[in-house]
Amino acid sequence: MLILAFESSCDETAVAVVRDGRHVLSDAILSQADMHALYGGVVPEIASRKHIEAIAGLTDQALREAGVGREEIDAVAVTYGPGLIGALLVGVSFAKSVAYALGKPLIPVHHLRGHIAANYLAFPELEPPFLALCISGGNSMLVDVRGYTDMSIVGATRDDAAGECFDKIARVLGLPYPGGKPMDDLAQGGCDTAYHLPRSKVTDCDLDMSFSGLKTAVVNLVHNAQQKGEEIDRPGLAASVAAAISDELVPRTMEAARRFGHHTVVAAGGVAANSRIRRDLQRSCQENHLKLYLPPLRLCGDNGAMIGSQAYYESLCQPAADMTLNAYATLEI
Ligand code: KG4
Repeated sequence: MLILAFESSCDETAVAVVRDGRHVLSDAILSQADMHALYGGVVPEIASRKHIEAIAGLTDQALREAGVGREEIDAVAVTYGPGLIGALLVGVSFAKSVAYALGKPLIPVHHLRGHIAANYLAFPELEPPFLALCISGGNSMLVDVRGYTDMSIVGATRDDAAGECFDKIARVLGLPYPGGKPMDDLAQGGCDTAYHLPRSKVTDCDLDMSFSGLKTAVVNLVHNAQQKGEEIDRPGLAASVAAAISDELVPRTMEAARRFGHHTVVAAGGVAANSRIRRDLQRSCQENHLKLYLPPLRLCGDNGAMIGSQAYYESLCQPAADMTLNAYATLEI
């Protein structure tokens, strides 16, 4: 089954052609990050406009690179939430018109289900059940994945996402947006115990996480040092932040895997590219005799192929959407 998939939930416009949920024929992506970097974060109105400018050209590119004609496409898939509502609406409207024009079924895909499915593209042997750690710019959650389309959230951030925490701290350190990768690079030369940073304790659900206290602590630390004219150990601070974020995520991932009886752990989302988190996951999974799947870096961030992968499995167990399909800024997994 050949699926033409669209992703436009944030600041990447992406169109891909995927066969049977596992084989990527093309994956065209246009990032707007440079544009948003001028403002230190994503400007939703600009994101929507840039998606409109890019989506038709990327569709031609994806079909051309896949070497398939429009008539060969079996279904059209699109991210319909969660994300920036204006940005999502561009993808949803475009996908609806393509599906209508081609007379093909329309498959709505949850963005985070897509991030998890990125792993199916990289690892042909991977099948549910497993425990997924989904960490991106807008979400941080632990997902009990029982089947390709049967899953539930068992722990989530109560406030900021891990990626948001990296991005905001990067901004006070004067690093470019998005700050996760520059923070990761800066941390390479630093000592992770240079600064004592807070770890959260969430009462009533010990699998839930919190990042806002850490973010505020680091922002205050930097501002205080600046006011007093004190030098900051920037690599040390970046390494200490990565350690604090990893401490928030990795032990909870191990506990969730144990509690829900999983022998396999899967990482997903842009923050899954972080070298400290990857290292800690590898060590902890080894200690706990868990099999770990870490997506290759190119499949961590937003892309259309992951949407095409998940869409295949959605198509096997749900009827196609009709032309009333809407986009949703928040959406249950
Ligand atoms: O999954 P993604 O591309 O978009 C969303 O769906 O949100 O994730 C983007 C996030 C940004 O916050 C970015 O700073 C972060 O992923 N990120 C990283 C790294 N690479 C990207 N965070 C930490 N370390 C990295 N190496």
